Amino acid sequence: MSAQKPGALLRVDPATVTAEQLAAAAEVLRSGGLVAFPTETVYGLGANALDPGAVARIFAAKRRPPDNPLIVHVASTEDLEGLVGAVTPLARALARRWWPGPLTLVLEAAPPIPAVTTGGHPTVAIRVPAHPVALALIEAAGVPLAAPSANRSGRPSPTTAAHVLADLADDVDLVIDGGPCTVGVESTVVDARGDRPVVLREGSISREDLLVPSAELVRRGPPDAAAPGLRYRHYAPRCAVEVAPPGQAVARAQELARNGRQIGLITAEGGDRTAVSRGPEIPGVTVLAVFRDAQELAQQLYGGLRAAEDAGVDVVVVESVEPVGVGRAVMDRLRRAAQG
Ligand code: TXA
Ligand code: MG
Repeated sequence: MSAQKPGALLRVDPATVTAEQLAAAAEVLRSGGLVAFPTETVYGLGANALDPGAVARIFAAKRRPPDNPLIVHVASTEDLEGLVGAVTPLARALARRWWPGPLTLVLEAAPPIPAVTTGGHPTVAIRVPAHPVALALIEAAGVPLAAPSANRSGRPSPTTAAHVLADLADDVDLVIDGGPCTVGVESTVVDARGDRPVVLREGSISREDLLVPSAELVRRGPPDAAAPGLRYRHYAPRCAVEVAPPGQAVARAQELARNGRQIGLITAEGGDRTAVSRGPEIPGVTVLAVFRDAQELAQQLYGGLRAAEDAGVDVVVVESVEPVGVGRAVMDRLRRAAQG
């Protein structure tokens, strides 16, 4: 399958990466192996999307339920050709506006996409990632890459190569380390088969963003529309997660710590909280991350949850943000993580 030992690491500089540097990784993919790679959102666990055996390895590595379909990553809008049925005018407009970028379009699947990739669904989810390493890898491999987030099913998504190795070192042939992901939450998944976008999973492109180009129609998607993956337990670290209202995270962490438990804190910068993050430690409370806005929380949330595990805390208290823009996706993930 591949010359690499499981969990081999290849470090690349996203600013200068070339397809040549990724030739060995491309060969692993072409011969049916698994390569984890950075995208702008989170790290993906990639395999040749057209090779059923390779895709089956993704499900085995992640312990992912087989009816939870994968996202297919391509290098440009032209690559949709042959992979999907009709490219609707809506899909074309959204792709023009947002690709490369953190938007996944669900369209009718064409025959070359094997059923294992779509989880047996008649549709396929597809996106062009905005990350130079991901794009160079797809081009070097010369095949579309099926890639879910590169975490064990149910765990927080990985935003660094170290997170990938922590979950999947024994199950992945090669991990490409291109540094930390900039966005930090997964792509927005949109059903683009009709004439209005239906949001199936909140992501870094918000509903407000999608108002371009099709106005208020977005809001009229079926209220229960959801990506199949959202049925499952998600984003949960191996400790309890508690969401605190804005401005109350520090007090809540202190209160919990008074009962003798080890508490982790992910809190917003500002006011008293500045003193907390910079000043003397509160006994029993470990400050794991401090953010200024929803985008920074998005970037730091999954790493913060994993850091909470590493620090051995019993409960991690996370300060909430307003559920608008990327804040909506962050609060969605946080609620799911808190459900455990
Ligand atoms: O940002 C991202 O989307 C990352 C990077 C690696 O691209 N990928 C990612 O993949 O988050 P994953 O597998 O963790 O999440 C894919 C989501 C799941 O909720 C899945 O159910 C949904 O997309 N999905 C995939 N195919 C679908 C389809 N045909 N119809 C509806 N939802 C679909
Ligand atoms: Mg995932």
